[in-house]
Amino acid sequence: MNGRERAEVLLKIGEKFYPPREIVERAWVKDYDALYEKSLRDPESFWAEVAEELFWFEKWQKVLEWEFPHAKWFVGGKTNVTYNCLDRHVREGRRNKIAYIYLDEENRERKITYGELLELVCRIANGLRSLGVGKGDRVSIYMPSSVEAIAVMLACARLGAIHSVVFAGFSEGALRMRISDAKAKVVVTASYTLRRGRKIDLLPTVLKAVEGLDFVQHLIVWDRDGDLTESEGLVDLEELVRTSEPYCEPEVLDAEDPLFILYTSGTTGKPKGVLHTVGGYMVQTYYTSKVVFDLHEDDIFWCTADIGWVTGHSYIVYGILANGVTSLVTEGAPDYPDPGRWWSYIERYRVNVFYTAPTAIRMFMKYGEEWPSRYDLSSLRILGSVGEPINPEAWHWYHKHIGRERCVIVDTWWQTETGAHMVTTVPSYATKPGKAGKPFFGVIADVVDRDGKRVPPNTVGVLVIRNPWPSMLRTCWGEPERYEKYWRSIPGNVYNTDDLASYDEEGYIMILGRADDVINVAGHRIGTMEVESALVDHPAVAEAAVIGKPHEVKGESIKAFVILKEGYRASAELAEELRLHVRNELGPIAVPDEIEFVDRLPKTRSGKIMRRILRARELGLEIGDVSTLED
Ligand code: WTA
Repeated sequence: MNGRERAEVLLKIGEKFYPPREIVERAWVKDYDALYEKSLRDPESFWAEVAEELFWFEKWQKVLEWEFPHAKWFVGGKTNVTYNCLDRHVREGRRNKIAYIYLDEENRERKITYGELLELVCRIANGLRSLGVGKGDRVSIYMPSSVEAIAVMLACARLGAIHSVVFAGFSEGALRMRISDAKAKVVVTASYTLRRGRKIDLLPTVLKAVEGLDFVQHLIVWDRDGDLTESEGLVDLEELVRTSEPYCEPEVLDAEDPLFILYTSGTTGKPKGVLHTVGGYMVQTYYTSKVVFDLHEDDIFWCTADIGWVTGHSYIVYGILANGVTSLVTEGAPDYPDPGRWWSYIERYRVNVFYTAPTAIRMFMKYGEEWPSRYDLSSLRILGSVGEPINPEAWHWYHKHIGRERCVIVDTWWQTETGAHMVTTVPSYATKPGKAGKPFFGVIADVVDRDGKRVPPNTVGVLVIRNPWPSMLRTCWGEPERYEKYWRSIPGNVYNTDDLASYDEEGYIMILGRADDVINVAGHRIGTMEVESALVDHPAVAEAAVIGKPHEVKGESIKAFVILKEGYRASAELAEELRLHVRNELGPIAVPDEIEFVDRLPKTRSGKIMRRILRARELGLEIGDVSTLED
């Protein structure tokens, strides 16, 4: 079965699950349909009401200014995200409430309260300021998921400096590109990160990545074991914390001041620096956290993502802290030291809301239900899924073996660009396995063809959003033309998500995967172009084409077709060398699973590689329209 046939089979099933009564009773939103309708009648008042739940130094004059394709939200409003994430809670009696429980692979635990986190953030902010960092400066953060990394992000936000977190699994080349593109004044890193019982050095990678970049004025290191010899030019994070003042006034920021840049892969060219701003991002991450995860005062929340991705930004840091709940942050592999690691934490900390990716669920399916069955998971109420389509098999396993048929699954569709959830169900609403659900409040989602015409129900098209939303990206850093493309590539002034989707008679949206040349490996976005450029960068490679192939656990795996230069011979050793080369350039997540040496690649008459044909051939599918094929 190909994707489309599979989709059609699933669409016919249309199986529905109704939430348990206890969950509906305590839910913030009890009547999705009514509230959705209200939100569309007047989206501006809807979002204004949400924004009023948060603190503003000065109220906005206008909720939305929409000059296609540019939006400003809460125009004239002044706030600081960290005030809402920290000070507000300290003032409202949560000073001694645990903000984070951090756990490493050896179950070393570190708890930090809202009061302590505020002080840590202030000290780092003062430290950064003493190094010359101020409003609008960029700070690159290359650190593992940890309290320290989160505190550095928030310290930037305190000052109005723009953070750019780079996933600590990326290699030197990917890191250098991101630091250079953002022209970071300061880079913050850690001596190492943990993975499967091993310490993976980060500092040497950073040192190589910043070589010759003279705009980088300081390198701050979280020296985890305190064993780095003092070397010139390095600033010790702990020393900076110790020697800085414990309180820092939050910078009064405009709602439209930048908050962060996060690089993500697109179809062409280098990764895009997606830019988010203070006000709208804060409001929508706060509100989606509240109503999609149905967070209440005593809830324990756990999002297993890494802070290097948008899921970590929105649902480990900003949206979750804005709700003042306690959450877990973990470093290391989900199945190390054994596949019981995650379930033991749910038992030990009585986690109520758990948010993870289908790729992890499929991995645990392989280990078998014996692992989770050993633990008491009765505290769980809501299970979230994100990052890729959740196949019904994985949905059912998650529902049965983790949720024990007592929990609600929320399948949240969104993107780095959207900043927060856009299509999902809220916990009081019936779910359909494999279908993400309904548009979030204030969001008009639609499925259209390439001409922008709405497709009939149960037909595959492209998912688009018809109206602006608060946490939408504002631009691509340094490349405004790439931002415009999101809104101008499909007729009708709609935002093109570049995801394939369909909707059913009841309006449930099902996401089928990317419509462009982005591969989704284990929930991570990887541009075919990036892997191809890394390959072509190797002296033996003349040309390369990269495709995604369905993979049982990872969702997709990477296959590369390579044409060698004159004088090089195909061999298993060379394939291995190329894999290593990609690993060094981009990082382990971008390494092709398969490399096939070929003599020619299918191309259009204008010379563009037709990956579609490679994919069809690889998967034994019909090739489709080849009228533009040169050869
Ligand atoms: C995919 C991650 C199906 C989709 C938050 C999207 C999903 C891309 C889902 C964005 C979901 C994310 N169901 N597909 N629930 N959530 N995706 O920017 O292809 O890393 O376009 O943001 O992940 O990936 P990104």
